[in-house]
Amino acid sequence: MDSARQPAEIGFGLQAFARPPGAPRLPRIARGEGVWLIDTEGNRYLDASSGPVASNLGHGHPRILAAMEAQARKAVFAYPSQFESEANLEFAERLGRLAGPGLDRAFIVSGGSEAVESAIKFARQHAVVIGQGSRWKVIGRQPGYHGNTLGALAVSGDEHAHEIFGPMMRAVPRVPAPLSYRLPPNHTVESHARACAAALEEAILREGPETVLAFIMEPVGGLATGALVAPDSYYEAVRQICTRHGIKLIFDEVMSGAGRTGRFLAADHWPSARPDIAVLAKGLSAGYAPLGAALVSAEMVGTVAAAGGFMHGFTYNAHVMGCAVGAAVLREVEEADLAGNSARMGALLRQRLEALAAHNPLLGDVRGLGLLLAVELVADQNSRQMIPLEKVAPSRVQQIALRHGLALYCRRTSRGAYGDWLMLSPPLTITAEEVGILATRLGAVLDDYANELRSEGVLR
Ligand SMILES: Cc1ncc(COP(=O)(O)O)c(C=O)c1O
Repeated sequence: MDSARQPAEIGFGLQAFARPPGAPRLPRIARGEGVWLIDTEGNRYLDASSGPVASNLGHGHPRILAAMEAQARKAVFAYPSQFESEANLEFAERLGRLAGPGLDRAFIVSGGSEAVESAIKFARQHAVVIGQGSRWKVIGRQPGYHGNTLGALAVSGDEHAHEIFGPMMRAVPRVPAPLSYRLPPNHTVESHARACAAALEEAILREGPETVLAFIMEPVGGLATGALVAPDSYYEAVRQICTRHGIKLIFDEVMSGAGRTGRFLAADHWPSARPDIAVLAKGLSAGYAPLGAALVSAEMVGTVAAAGGFMHGFTYNAHVMGCAVGAAVLREVEEADLAGNSARMGALLRQRLEALAAHNPLLGDVRGLGLLLAVELVADQNSRQMIPLEKVAPSRVQQIALRHGLALYCRRTSRGAYGDWLMLSPPLTITAEEVGILATRLGAVLDDYANELRSEGVLR
């Protein structure tokens, strides 16, 4: 590759395309080691977000690399309609057991968006098979994110994306997500969450319950809401509303699944609000292979299978190497109790972030569950006033962080209209000492940024 050219010019995908002209070059990755990423100049960056909340096992994990090598020597690809594979059987068995009753069958694909598409198409075909062909609408939340393919984007709540791609998609209703930091006037977190659940039922009644297929939500938010966690009562209310109207509840656990929030599924925190369908990706392969899955019940699969089978598929369904990686990752998640470590290290990181918020004026809120955490950036802690949007604060913080040896990830939903935040979601393998390094470096990054904003007159 011509080293004088920017990856953006060469066309390396969304983040690269989104980089403004003249933005500093990104470090070039040489290798990874645990929570560390090392560039070709030997600089070391602590991976504070697991890339896009994917590298749950850190980098260069010896047992995952060994499993990949062993599988590569046997068979990398065999199409699942022609051959079974040990890798697929082991992965599906482990995944079904960890996800538990009602979510024990997996449709295996190569990423989160494909898994969301598969989940909503499966729900639709199931409805058709059981004589409920009038149901097709999937209600989503605003803000919310479920992927970038047109079907997944249609159910995502991102006004900016809808402005651009809206005409190409079938509009579906969206209801407000129970945001917990900037509340409507005269609301508490609890009362706002109640109102958001009520808005779901109103939307269902307005649309006609017999036309509504599913409600999709992130049980713990990702980038769209900055690790939003709702009050317990919200999950229960949503479950009851869906049950009352015969609507499938889909939890998008692309970010929150596979141990990230301190349980295997975020759904496990709310056993009385169990979803009908769950969608996983990212941490499922910890970034070692493109992998995703839609989890449903054996009963639903049986119903669709008896009617001729799921009319859906991709070349890379149940990809043998992907499944081998997934099986090795799940083995590690279980044997090393990574969900437990996520709960413990998440509590520690949260404490450290709250301590930072006590003396850095830019930190308005700390939230999340386990190691799916976020800090909301503000210009004023008391009024919760946002940093002017044109500052694109998360991107600027991301740039400054590189100078301090910290790799952060940011992506805005709805052009930042709901707030700006940083995800703090390091690999689940992180140690207490590394949590300390992360927090110390983040503190230094935010001090630098606060000084910069002071010099620009944005911060007093
Ligand atoms: C909650 C959620 N759902 C779906 C997706 C889409 O996954 P992918 O980028 O693997 O297609 C993402 C990606 O960030 C996500 O965070």
